[in-house]
Amino acid sequence: MKRVITYGTFDLLHYGHVRLLERARSLGDYLVVAVTTDDFDIARGKINVQQSLAERMDAVRETGLADEIIVEEYEGQKIDDIQRLGIDVFTVGSDWVGQFDYLKEYCEVVYLDRTEGVSSTQIRSERKRMRLGLVGDVPFLAKYLSESTYVNGLEVRGVCAKRLEGLQDSLRSLEIVTSSIDELLAGVDAVYIASAPEEHYWQIKKALSQGVHVLCESPITLDVRSYEELEHLADTRGIRLLEAIRPAYSTAFKRLCLLVKSGVIGRVTAVDATCTSLSEGLGSSSKIPAGAWGSMGEWGPIAMLPVFQILGTGFIDLQMTSRRFDTKEPLDAFSRAEFVFPDAVASITVGKGVKSEGDLVVSGTRGYAYVPAPWWKTDYFELRFENPADNRRYFYQLDGAGVRNQLASFVLMVENGLETRYIAPETSRAIVKVMSDFVDGRNVTQIS
Ligand code: CTP
Repeated sequence: MKRVITYGTFDLLHYGHVRLLERARSLGDYLVVAVTTDDFDIARGKINVQQSLAERMDAVRETGLADEIIVEEYEGQKIDDIQRLGIDVFTVGSDWVGQFDYLKEYCEVVYLDRTEGVSSTQIRSERKRMRLGLVGDVPFLAKYLSESTYVNGLEVRGVCAKRLEGLQDSLRSLEIVTSSIDELLAGVDAVYIASAPEEHYWQIKKALSQGVHVLCESPITLDVRSYEELEHLADTRGIRLLEAIRPAYSTAFKRLCLLVKSGVIGRVTAVDATCTSLSEGLGSSSKIPAGAWGSMGEWGPIAMLPVFQILGTGFIDLQMTSRRFDTKEPLDAFSRAEFVFPDAVASITVGKGVKSEGDLVVSGTRGYAYVPAPWWKTDYFELRFENPADNRRYFYQLDGAGVRNQLASFVLMVENGLETRYIAPETSRAIVKVMSDFVDGRNVTQIS
């Protein structure tokens, strides 16, 4: 019996895929189809796959052309599959000509002519696009615009900023450029909000009331009651309200949390996260630029993410220490928050006027997880043990500083109604609570 294997993503299964499977099958008597996992696709640069692995496998199964369906998860798996499954023929479409010649050592390699005029990418891009609006006065809005070009099904339509003259050229050439949030909301399906935290509440409320989905920089609001009100509004109207903490969407961070929770480093006893960035203009001058964020405002939610995602939100004590910039404005140059949980402790250290090592350490009873600086942009982490021979390193792809994955996840959630919560609602709520304590000076000791 001649056994044939072929590989692919098979997203939004189309005529080209079916024709390929038919011809693959006719090359032998038994056809194995390997479907790629979402993570493997991301690592290969395909970030917009619309259907889940299960849906894509179901679609291949429904063609009735596959005798066996397997999953392709990692680079280098093909040789192993060919040997393990006793494969005689490896085949893929002609878009791959030459790329799999190295497999000729193990079996016959056949490149089949690709069907002209159809591809998953084309089908994805023809689907209705989500029109996104950007809100805020921060320079990294331009990053969201440039990264959006890598995400199928998304089009940045406009921007709403207080100071239009401060916008970069790329933003200024968008279709809608306005200082009125109402004008922006009227022309978009979703907004990314990166305004000052005090403005979030009313901006989000307006957006949700008009049926516009929201991706918002953290903290979503500055008090728990208004956060809950917005969450309720989003739920009852079936609209997405997502927190834009970038590391939450990165594969390395998600894997780190899962590994730690699975007990590989024993019982987690401490989580310590540091995030700092020295900002020009802050600290040195006597006047703080309008719209500038302090250390907790800019870094607090990011630093709290691993604490709450790993330890939960049931802390029983919280003490904060903070130092302001040498100005009249109440912006913090440095802050630290120390949490006590019934069975663990955690600390976050954040600074815009103080520099430190921006790493993340999760300490356990058997070993620890170490994410080197800058941990919030990580594509890499280590698990370390008493015996260095047991240490393990993990690498993952991270493109576009995490913005790309975040936008792709947002589109998938809005378009396909995917329920995946990258950030647990309790985490969002706890972040709001800590931020409101900080802003109101509860449990905060000021140092000079
Ligand atoms: N294929 C084909 N003809 C097409 C499209 C795909 O023969 N018009 C083949 C590919 O060469 C590959 C298999 O189908 O062997 C699975 O391809 P996949 O990458 O999943 O599909 P594409 O439509 O090429 O997806 P994308 O646009 O995301 O690259």
